[in-house]
Amino acid sequence: MGLADEAKRVAAEFEYSAEDVNKGVKEFIREMDEGLGKTGAMLSQIPTYVTAVPNGTEKGLYMAVDLGGTNFRVCSIQLHGNSTFSLTQSKVAIPRALMSAKTSKELFSFLAKQIENFLKTHHGEHYHSHIRRRLTNSTERGFRDEEIFSLGFTFSFPVNQIGINKGTLIRWTKGFDIHDAIGKDVCEMLQQEIDALHLPVRVAALVNDTVGTLMARSYSSPGKTGTLLGAIFGTGTNGAYVEKLEKVTKLKQIQEETGEEIDESTGEMIINTEWGSFDNDLSVLPNTPYDDDLDKESVNPGIQMFEKRVSGMFLGELLRRAILFLLKKHDCPLFADRDSSENDVHSTTNIADDSGIYKQWGLDTSFLSITHGDRSPGLRITRQTLDKEYGVTAASAEDAEAVQMIASAIGKRAARLSAVAIAAIVIATNKLESPADVATDNDAALGVNEDGIVDIGVDGSLVEFYPDFEDYIREAFRQIPQIGERGEKRIRIGIAKDGSGVGAALIALVADKVVKSDTGKEA
Ligand code: BGC
Repeated sequence: MGLADEAKRVAAEFEYSAEDVNKGVKEFIREMDEGLGKTGAMLSQIPTYVTAVPNGTEKGLYMAVDLGGTNFRVCSIQLHGNSTFSLTQSKVAIPRALMSAKTSKELFSFLAKQIENFLKTHHGEHYHSHIRRRLTNSTERGFRDEEIFSLGFTFSFPVNQIGINKGTLIRWTKGFDIHDAIGKDVCEMLQQEIDALHLPVRVAALVNDTVGTLMARSYSSPGKTGTLLGAIFGTGTNGAYVEKLEKVTKLKQIQEETGEEIDESTGEMIINTEWGSFDNDLSVLPNTPYDDDLDKESVNPGIQMFEKRVSGMFLGELLRRAILFLLKKHDCPLFADRDSSENDVHSTTNIADDSGIYKQWGLDTSFLSITHGDRSPGLRITRQTLDKEYGVTAASAEDAEAVQMIASAIGKRAARLSAVAIAAIVIATNKLESPADVATDNDAALGVNEDGIVDIGVDGSLVEFYPDFEDYIREAFRQIPQIGERGEKRIRIGIAKDGSGVGAALIALVADKVVKSDTGKEA
């Protein structure tokens, strides 16, 4: 087989048909229900204790930090109360060594240090006056409440949330692996390190990035429709949605164990699905030899199986493994040195020995976005990137086409799988069956009929940078009978940029109100 045919064959392994999509949706809805009924199910369906979404009128100055995967972000957010906000932020890459540090203290003291740096740089006045006050004043807590920042802690890993600012780590994902953190309260660990530095900061709320995205989208989205779902398609993937309290049947038991009060007035609660672990036993998920090997050699084999097919941390690695497979095939001269004799075409490839192509995680998912979007003659951009970033000199147009074909197939499968998760939530919550649905037969009118719109907030590198990601999702939606052409038009997907920061601030605000009303102070 020639190179083009081989590449076509590998790309075909990543096909995910309309029938597969529908099977996926059915299973997803089944697992959603299971997770609402018991703890420890594959789809965790974690209650977040957030029982309302904002409406844009919220005001105040808050801090938020975001430990998500690749970076740690610290921000302060001024909510203006008119659906707008100003945000100041700093971002550092998390050193790889810290992701698998010996103790969680190493990680959390690093985080607290970044908060200190941020305060000194962006809120110097506040920071120094606080330190001065601490030296002259002594109250029971060492500081007065109104002098400290309330901080929303976006911690984007599966956490067993037991209160608005309390939650124990269930498992690490996205390559993190620090054993002693499992089962510990992540807010407490951060607060301890903040206190060790005497910073004027109280960890007021624990937030998953998807919940933050949902809140942020709801704060700023146009119209009066609340947002249904916040979803991340970045380094990892996950979604949080608004569920009816009565359907969260496991809540009673959790409440008995934790004694935590729940505000039931809205009849709703945001549920963090942790869909990265959808179908860990692969009953409906697609599986190729590349998926299999990637999983076996990961730090968490057998879990986050959906995430390993969808999110940015893994797509580059899938492509890398497919490329290695082609490189090993003797009748298929990918990246071959065409100047060498025909016979030893494989002993001399055009790949540098230290190329990322030979290293686990060595191929970044951004490469998939680049090559998928490459329309240049002879795929010049793909070839240049291969050369500059991956030490592949003199790749031919045919090489680049083969790589592009496989990369695009991996990206498309990821988008169609994403559609499964989103569609399942839209269907399970009956959002397309509202009275507004029946109200009009005119598709053109649907866009203007605010009440008929199902709003979804998304964030993450894939939705932001992978060309066609949303189009592929929409194509899959149309292939699902319960959604179809009409339903697809009613689903509005909007980027909630920096959602986790703003969302965390909004939840800190809610948490603050609770603390202040508990202590008798004005909310
Ligand atoms: C984590 C989720 C998170 C998602 C997106 C997953 O690996 O388990 O908690 O929301 O990544 O960051």
